[in-house]
Amino acid sequence: MDEDRIISGDADIQDISFEQSLRPLRLQDYIGQDKVKENLEVFIQAARQRQEALDHVLLYGPPGLGKTTLATIIANEMGVNIRTTAGPAIERPGDLAAILTALEPGDVLFIDEIHRLPRSIEEVLYPAMEDFCLDIVIGKGPSARSVRIDLPPFTLVGATTRAGAVSAPLRDRFGVLSRLEYYEQKQLKDIVERTAEVLHTQIIEDAAWEIARRSRGTPRIANRLLRRVRDFAQVKGNGSITKEISNLSLELLQVDRLGLDHIDHKLIMGMIHKFRGGPVGLETIAATIGEEAHTIEDVYEPYLLQIGFLQRTPRGRVVTPLAYEHFQLQKDEE
Ligand SMILES: Nc1ncnc2c1ncn2[C@@H]1O[C@H](COP(=O)(O)OP(=O)(O)OP(=O)(O)O)[C@@H](O)[C@H]1O
Ligand SMILES: [Mg+2]
Repeated sequence: MDEDRIISGDADIQDISFEQSLRPLRLQDYIGQDKVKENLEVFIQAARQRQEALDHVLLYGPPGLGKTTLATIIANEMGVNIRTTAGPAIERPGDLAAILTALEPGDVLFIDEIHRLPRSIEEVLYPAMEDFCLDIVIGKGPSARSVRIDLPPFTLVGATTRAGAVSAPLRDRFGVLSRLEYYEQKQLKDIVERTAEVLHTQIIEDAAWEIARRSRGTPRIANRLLRRVRDFAQVKGNGSITKEISNLSLELLQVDRLGLDHIDHKLIMGMIHKFRGGPVGLETIAATIGEEAHTIEDVYEPYLLQIGFLQRTPRGRVVTPLAYEHFQLQKDEE
């Protein structure tokens, strides 16, 4: 996989500290995802009025859409602490017990990549989620015994990019399931303008639109493109982001006007030239362009499906007329 892909939804090392400073802290500053926000607002208010912990929340959706951000906001709005960990980081039941027993009543435990939690840990988690208690086996062999530990009521917020990979019994224990959607351009434009303000950078509205259009519906990509464009503005201009600066830099970054890059190009062109645009099976595409099938499915394909360039059919993937048009190709021109 191409690690340097500027339009990847995944966080790279540079994103991590940068994003920290950009995270909105309250629900009202979280742009878009209106349905998710409206529901959470009600559930949070209700839980606060009853002075109870909020129900467990599962957030799912493609990378970079704001799951971690939302988890932090939930804790802020509830007025509680957040403890953050990730599925693969919890290896033994004792790890989980240590985290859970250190929580204060009402706290949020955020488990990122929850689909990667080992099954043995999941089983310890079930009673913790349902009854706020832990059954831990102490010792080995004949002297082993099980002890029950009471826990403070807490809210588990789980996040995953692969809802299908979360086991059904775990999924069923979440009271709130929220699916994050790709953002609309207007919302991404608002996010770009908000980020520019946080960075004390001036940006012309047209330039914000331009970045929004190429951000693949993803705030992380919008913020990353803005950061790079800001570098160009600083070095090639006077620091403010004009239309000319943004066009020049986006061209140099090789992100086209729909946010597609050479990998999207390779995928679509491979399908058009070798399979007349399909239908063609995922495994076959993978072999043709030398990528793993699940990388195509999880990383490359979702946005292309979203903008209607690819379609899934029972017989495989098909390149749509929209894509032919974008790449200025005729259907039978191979
Ligand atoms: N609704 C939003 N409004 C403003 N900024 C947002 C919003 N959603 C996300 N962002 C910004 O986008 C960046 C990425 O968001 P975040 O890290 O929450 O995504 P994620 O869904 O947790 O990604 P991953 O799947 O990689 O964990 C952050 O810098 C955040 O500030
Ligand atoms: Mg995250």
